[in-house]
Amino acid sequence: MKFSTFYFSGTGNTRWAVETFNAIISEKDHQAAMFSIDFGENLTDEHILKIVQAADCIGLANPIYGGDIPPIMKEFIDRLIKILKPVQTEKKVFVINTFGYVNAFGPNEMKKLLAGSGLVLTAYVNIQLCNNVVTTKPVDRELLNKRMARGKTELTRLADRLLSGRKRIKGHGPQLMIGAMIRKKVPEAIARHHQTLGVNMETCTRCMACVNNCPTGSILFDEGEGFTFLPGCTASMRCYNFCPTGSITMNGIYADPNQVPRYHGPV
Ligand SMILES: Cc1cc2nc3c(=O)[nH]c(=O)nc-3n(C[C@H](O)[C@H](O)[C@H](O)COP(=O)(O)O)c2cc1C
Ligand code: SF4
Repeated sequence: MKFSTFYFSGTGNTRWAVETFNAIISEKDHQAAMFSIDFGENLTDEHILKIVQAADCIGLANPIYGGDIPPIMKEFIDRLIKILKPVQTEKKVFVINTFGYVNAFGPNEMKKLLAGSGLVLTAYVNIQLCNNVVTTKPVDRELLNKRMARGKTELTRLADRLLSGRKRIKGHGPQLMIGAMIRKKVPEAIARHHQTLGVNMETCTRCMACVNNCPTGSILFDEGEGFTFLPGCTASMRCYNFCPTGSITMNGIYADPNQVPRYHGPV
């Protein structure tokens, strides 16, 4: 069988989950491929259609943002539905969500997003890893390693189920109530996120890593104007966590990376 996964990963957790799933599939002598939906990847509609048509099963993988899926993934799903509509392709879909504290986005919400697309939700799993938003403590590596081991077990189960044609739908539970409440506020907060970002020009080296690696291409730099953060920002935290000098500010506050650790991904 061939599995092709479209994924978004702000800081590496979701990429790790997809890489792990793909390694499991390859060990079982099946094929697995992964495609980042980042702005810089320039996936064309034709390419996306070819990927879907050549696969037996399509994966969608992303982190959870405030009990919801990030705008960049929602936009991708809308686009996928538009691409698939004229060809009326029916495909099995599996979903991998990563999260830090509580995943309040469930399979029913995902089914609603996929309604009418020909994409049939066959499996849905949640992998708890760690939080990637601003925190004063460095990530607890011991705990993260334990969660990665648990995640690998879940991804192995997912692979086994998909290969034997059985469903694996996880993620129903009381936590979904929280999602129903916070989902009303999250889109607004994410839409405003770009307004909170800035750059500490005293420590910035103009390396342009933030500009070049922003998943939505929402950071511009101009010698005269300086940095501009655009509304397309999906709040991935990539610029904040991966600036080599920790120069991205939030709400005008510069956090010295020696005192406020950044998250550089699970591996
Ligand atoms: C804007 C934002 C909102 C988040 N909201 C949640 C949340 O509601 N629940 C949760 O458990 N984790 C939340 N997280 C943490 C991420 O889901 C988690 O760290 C995820 O594994 C990151 O994946 P990535 O490294 O692939 O981007 C949030 C992270 C961000 C950046
Ligand atoms: S990544 Fe950091 S140091 Fe490099 S240009 Fe952006 S803010 Fe400046």
